Amino acid sequence: MNILPVNSYQQNCKCSPYFTSCAKIYNPKKITNLDIFAMDKIKTTSGPFRKDQDWNDIMKYIFWNFPGEKKINISSLACSDSSEPLSYALYLYCKTPETYYSKYNIFGSDIDPEMIKIAKSGKINLSKSDFENMEKYVKNARLYFKYAGNPLKISNNIYESESAYKIDPDIMKMMHFKKSDMLTEVKLLAENEPHVVNIKNVFPYLKQEYTDAVLESLSKKLKNGDIFVYGNYDRVVPNFKQKLLDLGFFFPKPDANFVQKI
Ligand SMILES: C[S@@+](CC[C@H](N)C(=O)[O-])C[C@H]1O[C@@H](n2cnc3c(N)ncnc32)[C@H](O)[C@@H]1O
Repeated sequence: MNILPVNSYQQNCKCSPYFTSCAKIYNPKKITNLDIFAMDKIKTTSGPFRKDQDWNDIMKYIFWNFPGEKKINISSLACSDSSEPLSYALYLYCKTPETYYSKYNIFGSDIDPEMIKIAKSGKINLSKSDFENMEKYVKNARLYFKYAGNPLKISNNIYESESAYKIDPDIMKMMHFKKSDMLTEVKLLAENEPHVVNIKNVFPYLKQEYTDAVLESLSKKLKNGDIFVYGNYDRVVPNFKQKLLDLGFFFPKPDANFVQKI
């Protein structure tokens, strides 16, 4: 298990070979009037097919769980830039028939307006290592991106990405984005529809009451079979696994970062 406490990560690492699309340090309290943050400074990193998850594994699980469904909602809450929704969209675009595309409702939201503006722009910062990582899951990953010059400017970004790329418009069409906080979005999840809710690498930044409210709302909203995906960093939240068990989630693969509502 690879748990990286955020402080030592911030101190020791000026760059990361893995999370290259953005690496922003900022005061989250300045971008919202919600009193939900436990820290004055946070570092947000993201990148396509982030390595704290085996994406083949989660995708197989999604297919097994929702065969024959007309619609599958995949919500990436606290998505940062578009990396996380893009990982789902790119995988599904490359590995499922075109007739399936309209089945997937891939949604990304984040509390930081700058990140959502970037996500909506249809562009993303990428480096050679991002493409190498993408190739593990999709063949010829570069075909889905067009070189767009200098990296997009992200305030307080401590990692210089190599370049910006325009995401293939057909893949962009599969995703939609909104600036919003995750508790609001969990409460808005549609009733009686299948859900994969992805909230990764954000809970340790938040006050315990807010984390508890998100997890409780999630367990009320999700139905049997629905999936909640979290990240490696979330494992540092005290009693995180026990909280999920107490709320009626099941660990189909105890070493993987996802649970299923039962
Ligand atoms: C470390 S990044 C994680 C990004 C992505 N989920 C991943 O794992 O690659 C954390 C993100 O959470 C966002 N965030 C923090 N609190 C939030 C909240 N209450 N609701 C929605 N987004 C939030 C931050 O703006 C930041 O973009």
